[in-house]
Amino acid sequence: MEKQRTATLSFSDGTPGVELPIIPGTLGPDVIDIRNLAKTGLFTYDPGFLSTASCSSGITYIDGDSGQLYYRGYPIEQLAEKSSYLEVCYLLLHGELPTQDEQDKFENEIKRRTMVHDQLMSFYKGFRRDAHPMAVMVGVVGALSAFYHDSLDISNPAHREVSALRLIAKVPTIAAMCYKYNIGHPFMYPNNALGYVENFLHMMFATPCEQYAANPKLVKALERIFILHADHEQNASTSTVRLAGSSGANPFACTSAGIAALWGPAHGGANEAVLKMLDEIGDISQIPKFISRAKDKKDSFRLMGFGHRVYKNVDPRAKVMRETCYEVLDELGLQNDRLFEMAMELERVALQDDYFVERKLYPNVDFYSGIVLRALNVPLNMFTVIFAIARTIGWISQWNEMISDSDRKIGRPRQLYRGPERRDYKARSER
Ligand code: CMC
Repeated sequence: MEKQRTATLSFSDGTPGVELPIIPGTLGPDVIDIRNLAKTGLFTYDPGFLSTASCSSGITYIDGDSGQLYYRGYPIEQLAEKSSYLEVCYLLLHGELPTQDEQDKFENEIKRRTMVHDQLMSFYKGFRRDAHPMAVMVGVVGALSAFYHDSLDISNPAHREVSALRLIAKVPTIAAMCYKYNIGHPFMYPNNALGYVENFLHMMFATPCEQYAANPKLVKALERIFILHADHEQNASTSTVRLAGSSGANPFACTSAGIAALWGPAHGGANEAVLKMLDEIGDISQIPKFISRAKDKKDSFRLMGFGHRVYKNVDPRAKVMRETCYEVLDELGLQNDRLFEMAMELERVALQDDYFVERKLYPNVDFYSGIVLRALNVPLNMFTVIFAIARTIGWISQWNEMISDSDRKIGRPRQLYRGPERRDYKARSER
């Protein structure tokens, strides 16, 4: 048997060193197991988790240097081309691709749960009409916990399964209702004769007076967006879901926490931010000025849709989305769309600029997905909501994996304290 590799931590002041086991992964870097380090009275310091694996997982793998992304071992490009979003959901949740019978049963289980409780509809009235749909999503998805007392025992695998099905089925309905409420239209009930993606478009764009005939090419484009965003390892929102879930919180509350974390412009809010940035740039002639601003450390402006914590090569999702972008604009006769032309020029200039090249800042998936969503007539404030729909399966699969893990512990990071030393309280008159 091969001897386990170890790493030794030595100290410059003569304190005895510590031997730390190294755990190999199936793919990617091995990790140094520092669990015993705390016994020495020392902690590690790693703001932003740049060098820390927060958990062990068998769901998604990213090779950031070569630009690879696998769901349960399957390359994202193959899934985007050959699979459907619901098949990907099954894969992420259960670990294997389904047989035809398993797929039919799974789709059926989802279809029969697409409606939301009638009382949940009244929640919307509590929000201002002009509220950001992500604000409404955080509230309404969290509120689902108030409706399913029968299945909130997280230690029961059957309860976890039914919660997963409910979330996959109801999040698109809740999302479309956010949009309808925002524009003052009546809510559209789901139509279970339609596929998952088409049904979402129906709830968004049909009205009681008019049906919505979805263009199959556009349905396929949105399905791709869903597949590409379904999971992405231990990103900020997924880590949030895991941390919230580590205390034993229910899956609806944890998903709501994930939606809140996703909202930020450095994460899921980037696709919305890309379009706002293109609007702000306004004209191709202004691109050099904005590139200079992005490089200026005194300016907080960043090129949205560029860069990634893990990908230091092309984001494989961006490659697929770029192709989809061309297909959609071609289908809609929008090849000469002003924003698209600007985006392509920005991409060209940035990819030749030393600042971006040296820092390996490539366009990420959100650089293109925003343009596709806009072509599909999805309003800007719904872009991150679409991301949230797609990512729900990732959150719930990772949550489920964590709860099933015998090594599970409440997430409780330590800190490097740099505040005041001990001091005595002074009466106000003495301060
Ligand atoms: N524009 C200009 N400079 C940038 C950018 C950018 N978009 N991104 C990173 N940099 C610079 C940064 O200033 C730093 O420079 P220096 O080394 O001189 O200080 C260097 O590149 C490394 O940046 P960082 O902030 O340390 O990298 P990070 O891993 O902490 O941040 C990121 C990753 C995605 C938050 C960041 O690249 C960013 O803010 N990008 C724009 C927002 C965006 O598109 N986010 C979507 C990510 S993909 C969707 C998802 O998976 O959520």
